[in-house]
Amino acid sequence: MEQIIKEYKEYVDKFNQSDSRINYKWNHSLRVMEKMQKLSKNLKQDEKDYFLSSIIGLFHDFGRFYQLDNYDTYEDNVFDHGDYGANELIKNHKLKDFVNEDVEEQVIYDAIKNHNKYSIDQNLNKRNMLFSKMIMDTDKIDILENVANGLIELDDDDSKISDEVKDYFDNHKLLLLSLKETNNDRIIGFLCFVYDLHFTWSYEYLYKHKIFEKIYDKLKNKEIFKYYFEEVDKYLKEKIGE
Ligand SMILES: [Fe+2]
Repeated sequence: MEQIIKEYKEYVDKFNQSDSRINYKWNHSLRVMEKMQKLSKNLKQDEKDYFLSSIIGLFHDFGRFYQLDNYDTYEDNVFDHGDYGANELIKNHKLKDFVNEDVEEQVIYDAIKNHNKYSIDQNLNKRNMLFSKMIMDTDKIDILENVANGLIELDDDDSKISDEVKDYFDNHKLLLLSLKETNNDRIIGFLCFVYDLHFTWSYEYLYKHKIFEKIYDKLKNKEIFKYYFEEVDKYLKEKIGE
């Protein structure tokens, strides 16, 4: 993996290094790779699938660097970095610039294309679905972890959470991007991530690392969020059978 990481870093270094988002996304890529490796071990995958999981984790945000450089935004409705990354790496063979080993290209393509979608493509076969679910979980967990450790700032205010946002939360659905109007809605959006996870390992990770407790600690207007954090805590405990 080391050589692959080195080659990819050289590629990333060609983007604007004074944009802190580029560096953030590079570190995120490394951390998601590590989380994919942990999840892969937890699922007792063989060596070949462990490697495939590592590759998907490391390259899942390939399109982000191009997106930030050319569109200066994270908004996927402006530029879909999942579609772009999958196409460039597999259809346009960019992955071969970094990876010499033979890999299952369709699995990587599907996982990267799906990782930033609101819902996963239900037509994927079982194997491609598995790796897509893995990257969706590890990506979300890393984002939540970064909220917990302050790398992503919350900046909550005293505004009321809208009824529509509360409905999504109560129905255990991911928040649509269009509903995240205020910073407080955005925070509920992060909490809703917990309702779109697929592996026991994921719930255990969040629970063990006290991710939601740390996020709650950071909030200024705790009363507004108390109900939501209590619900998430209950849900996590149910999932891991505590
Ligand atoms: Fe992404």
